[in-house]
Amino acid sequence: GRVAVMMGGASAERAISLASGQTCLDALVALGVDAEAFDPLPRPLADLTAFDRAFIALHGPGGEDGTMQGALESLDIPYTGSGVLGSALGMDKLRSKQIWQALGLPTPAYRVVTSADSSAAVAQALGFPVFVKPLREGSSLGTTPVDHEDDLAAAVAAARQYGEAALVERCIVGTEYTVAVLGDEILPPIRIDVAEPFYDFEAKYRSEATRMTIPCGLSAERESALQGLARDAFAAIDARGWGRVDVMADERGDFWLLEVNTIPGMTDHSLVPAAAAAHGLDMATLVWRILLTSWR
Ligand code: DAL
Ligand code: MG
Repeated sequence: GRVAVMMGGASAERAISLASGQTCLDALVALGVDAEAFDPLPRPLADLTAFDRAFIALHGPGGEDGTMQGALESLDIPYTGSGVLGSALGMDKLRSKQIWQALGLPTPAYRVVTSADSSAAVAQALGFPVFVKPLREGSSLGTTPVDHEDDLAAAVAAARQYGEAALVERCIVGTEYTVAVLGDEILPPIRIDVAEPFYDFEAKYRSEATRMTIPCGLSAERESALQGLARDAFAAIDARGWGRVDVMADERGDFWLLEVNTIPGMTDHSLVPAAAAAHGLDMATLVWRILLTSWR
């Protein structure tokens, strides 16, 4: 059957999605799959009825947050990755954290801020440094590290350009890891080292100084604890098929869940392809395995 590779869309991560989608489309075509790009920004969704299956390479609100998944359910077209609920929860950093907390899974302390005038209360509750993030966005857009109370209001205003509330999260000082999930497998964790102050948009897509290390350098026991935490965090929000779980380790070595990406980046600079390669899966095999997640 024909596969629509959904890419682009209207979110702030449109350009990343076009790059992710092109990588996936090229891999599918090379495998002999009858696949075609489908950009829902110009094209009406009703055109999807000409396809048998959707490979979703959209990032951010409108593509990764359950709305497109719901549309595909309504059109009765099978699609890759998480369903409506897991997609919606994965996009929402606050609700993800609330679920993890309820299950006793570790995630950094936080406050939700809807207006800039509660800086002092936030400072009291969390201390500094903190990260200020939009509740529902990707690729670190609208995210700012804040070391001092005086800079909090501006960071909250920047995050609120993406939605009415901002998430202020205690900054875990330590090492960043990310763990890819592919079907029933948890791929080898990656350690991320950045030259920038944090793993921001620049570090994710432009910087040559960002280093991905696999194997990640943890002992076998700690590595499997990290993989187990990723598996639990992914399942807790009802994520399915494939995705990537971002985790910090603090200076004592304790792990803290940051977020789940239900449609992680698939550019040549991206993390999931790197984890797959370390696991012996080339791009074609990875993309094929992702396509298989639409059979369910
Ligand atoms: N939101 C970006 C695409 C990622 O998680 O890789
Ligand atoms: Mg994300």
